[in-house]
Amino acid sequence: MVSSEKTDESPRRRRHLWLVGMMGSGKSSVGLPLAERLGMKFIDTDAGIERDHTASIADLFATHGEPWFRLEEERAVAAIAADPEPAVVATGGGVVLSEMNREAMKATGVVVWLFADLATVIGRVGMGGDRPLIGRANPVASMDHLMVERHDVYLRAADARVSTIDRDVADVVAEVEALWRSS
Ligand code: S3P
Repeated sequence: MVSSEKTDESPRRRRHLWLVGMMGSGKSSVGLPLAERLGMKFIDTDAGIERDHTASIADLFATHGEPWFRLEEERAVAAIAADPEPAVVATGGGVVLSEMNREAMKATGVVVWLFADLATVIGRVGMGGDRPLIGRANPVASMDHLMVERHDVYLRAADARVSTIDRDVADVVAEVEALWRSS
């Protein structure tokens, strides 16, 4: 597919590089080497929430529920948005669901949507692992449902879309790096 499609043109401050996209789209695998190449700090919102609560995302969902987790995500995104040190941020797949998050990301940097098709993300995530939103009974159907439901939200949230289908990490890193340098 064609990659690096610009999805929005509005001007904004460019401090952070936010990576958004579905589970299995490659945000964490791409984010760390990308941060190294750009000499920026790397932040993973899920890892931060897990650290803050000394518990896994799966346990936090089970104990507190999804609405609580979404508030924690908003808190994490707001803290990063307020951080003056530039960062590459791998966000959880559902971060874009919050308008507050979408606005905070756009106001503080460039938002890149890492995109992959259903077969690719299922190939990476397998039976869902410990991802609470992927039903064990039918992981393909749950992933498909989330992808369809969220497509327009990712489109709205992002400045550019980069495909990770049939591409190795270095290739995607190079494309996002070029996007960042030209933005
Ligand atoms: C979620 C994605 C997960 C994690 C949580 C919810 C989602 O992160 O935040 O399980 O709503 O898509 P990854 O996208 O890093 O797997």
